[in-house]
Amino acid sequence: MSLPSPTLQTARLRLRPFDDADADDLFALQSNAYVLRYWDSPPWSERARSERFITACRQMAEEGTGARLAVDRLSDGAFIGWCTLNRWNPDYRSASLGYCFGDAAWGHGYATEAARALLGWAFDTLDLNRIQAEADTRNVGSARVLEKLGFVREGTLREDCVVNGDVSDSWVYGLLRREWRPSSEPVPAPLSPRSPARRRPASRSFDSPRRQSSPSKRSVSIGASRSRSGHAIVYHSRRRRRSH
Ligand SMILES: CC(C)(COP(=O)(O)OP(=O)(O)OC[C@H]1O[C@@H](n2cnc3c(N)ncnc32)[C@H](O)[C@@H]1OP(=O)(O)O)[C@@H](O)C(=O)NCCC(=O)NCCS
Repeated sequence: MSLPSPTLQTARLRLRPFDDADADDLFALQSNAYVLRYWDSPPWSERARSERFITACRQMAEEGTGARLAVDRLSDGAFIGWCTLNRWNPDYRSASLGYCFGDAAWGHGYATEAARALLGWAFDTLDLNRIQAEADTRNVGSARVLEKLGFVREGTLREDCVVNGDVSDSWVYGLLRREWRPSSEPVPAPLSPRSPARRRPASRSFDSPRRQSSPSKRSVSIGASRSRSGHAIVYHSRRRRRSH
């Protein structure tokens, strides 16, 4: 079942499907080691990763597993990052949230605003009951974003990630439908995916998804019960990644 990616507008942002023209901006974001210092995989070193990422966004929509949206700032049309709702599991009525923004855009509430719009769409459209997110325990900014959105910290995954030899723990956060409080700002209205307000960024850009598979991750899931990834029964599978 397909899930067409929406276009959503908030007071300051437009969230829209990725297209091929985003490849350079995406690469600039995902190859930035500072931005990705708490990511669960190393920064990109090849531009081809951008094309693969954008192809994966389309596949995600075609296969109905989620929505990964580019985020443009309305005031200047600049691409400032992206936000994803993935691992949608209609049986469990669950999904995962992830996001990445360029450092020039940090500290303005953009991540919270974008994620809130995506969460609103997801709760309204997908009949979700639970949304999960994971964050590196050193990533205080991301934890704060999740808490501003109403997520509850549910636990710690010890030594959850290994990236270039750096072992890190993850916090697990959950947001239940009954806890969800849309903000007082207008409910995001779906727009045409080709809205004329969109322009290419004039300034630096940013990119990234929070979970690409990487050989640096060495853990597996073992068992016959629910997979934390929201996928079906798993015996020995590659491990769940942080939600991006
Ligand atoms: C995490 C990230 C999304 C935050 O984006 P942002 O647009 O700056 O987020 P917001 O402005 O909406 O909110 C950030 C909050 O964290 C707080 N914060 C940021 N860094 C902090 C720190 N080191 N210590 C304490 N608080 C911090 C900010 O003050 C703000 O809280 P406030 O509104 O109460 O003041 C952004 O830094 C990012 O994309 N980082 C790289 C990718 C990444 O780590 N993604 C998340 C993976 S789990």
